[in-house]
Amino acid sequence: MKYLITGGAGFIGSNAADALLKEGHEVRIIDNLSTGKLSNIPQGAEFHKLDFTDLESIRPVFEGVDGVFHFGALARIPYSIENPIDSAMTNVMGTLNVLVAARDAKVKRLVYSASSSAYGNQATLPQTPDMPAHPLNPYGLHKYIGELNAEQFSRFYGLETVCLRYFNVYGPRMADEGAYVTVISIFARQKKAGEPLTIQGDGEQTRDFTHVYDVVRANMLAMTSPKVGKGEVVNIGCGKKFSINHIAKVIGGPTHTVEGRVGEAKDSLADISLTKELLGWEPQIQFEQGLPEYLRSIGIEPTLPL
Ligand SMILES: NC(=O)c1ccc[n+]([C@@H]2O[C@H](COP(=O)([O-])OP(=O)(O)OC[C@H]3O[C@@H](n4cnc5c(N)ncnc54)[C@H](O)[C@@H]3O)[C@@H](O)[C@H]2O)c1
Repeated sequence: MKYLITGGAGFIGSNAADALLKEGHEVRIIDNLSTGKLSNIPQGAEFHKLDFTDLESIRPVFEGVDGVFHFGALARIPYSIENPIDSAMTNVMGTLNVLVAARDAKVKRLVYSASSSAYGNQATLPQTPDMPAHPLNPYGLHKYIGELNAEQFSRFYGLETVCLRYFNVYGPRMADEGAYVTVISIFARQKKAGEPLTIQGDGEQTRDFTHVYDVVRANMLAMTSPKVGKGEVVNIGCGKKFSINHIAKVIGGPTHTVEGRVGEAKDSLADISLTKELLGWEPQIQFEQGLPEYLRSIGIEPTLPL
């Protein structure tokens, strides 16, 4: 098949490009390299350095494509709080452009990278897709609007869509620099530099972590499953939560505490029963295995099992 990946120079998109090429598919990539790296783009992929906020420039790349994986985004919470318009231009208007280009090129299906940040703080855990969305920051809001637009494109125009809400993705090519990196990358960098690990707030906030290979597999199933295509929203997580304090202990060494970040949820925990039913997906790499493996791959020996 011929697939188009937006954001294919980024963390998750480039892992997806690798996997699709390995399965013998043709892969086209659109990326403006704003946070992605040219070195992430696998050999064999056709690369178009374009910005999807410009609809007319991206249209030709959609011609003849069977399916689109829309990973491209400005995936940075603090940046979205400081720059809500820029975040919306990429994450809302850019996503709308990608949907329009896919519709007009008669692409069969688009898989949208949604985010667990749509949940915000819910009264109960685990989080299920039928809970009302309650995003706590512009990034979460803009990613959620993308889901609503994807559903409408299925309803009005017959473009098949499915929305995957990822929970804290980690693994090879995870960002380790820049304005916003995940807690695992920050801890890893501090540990290597012999610095204390920075805990934001009381450290008792919890997260459900998902390995990037499981996220890629979910995308491939979402592209082909006969049970989706109408804008369904499903969770991609492991269904287990770990506190930031606990992760710091596993990585080991001294810690220091700073004020908690505004606009971030207290807990995240995925209920994946609908994902199992619609996609036949469940995680193959639990965090207990994936975190130590990842740490060892970057030269850090965990001090404790998770
Ligand atoms: N990493 C996570 O934990 C996580 C969790 C939930 C959802 N997501 C979603 O998954 C997707 C991929 O995230 P990631 O972690 O790989 O992020 P990333 O920043 O590594 O990748 C995003 C890519 O999109 C590209 N891009 C940004 N704006 C663009 C534009 N206007 N035109 C063309 N390309 C553009 C960037 O250059 C980058 O290569 C995003 O949609 C993100 O919102 C990620």
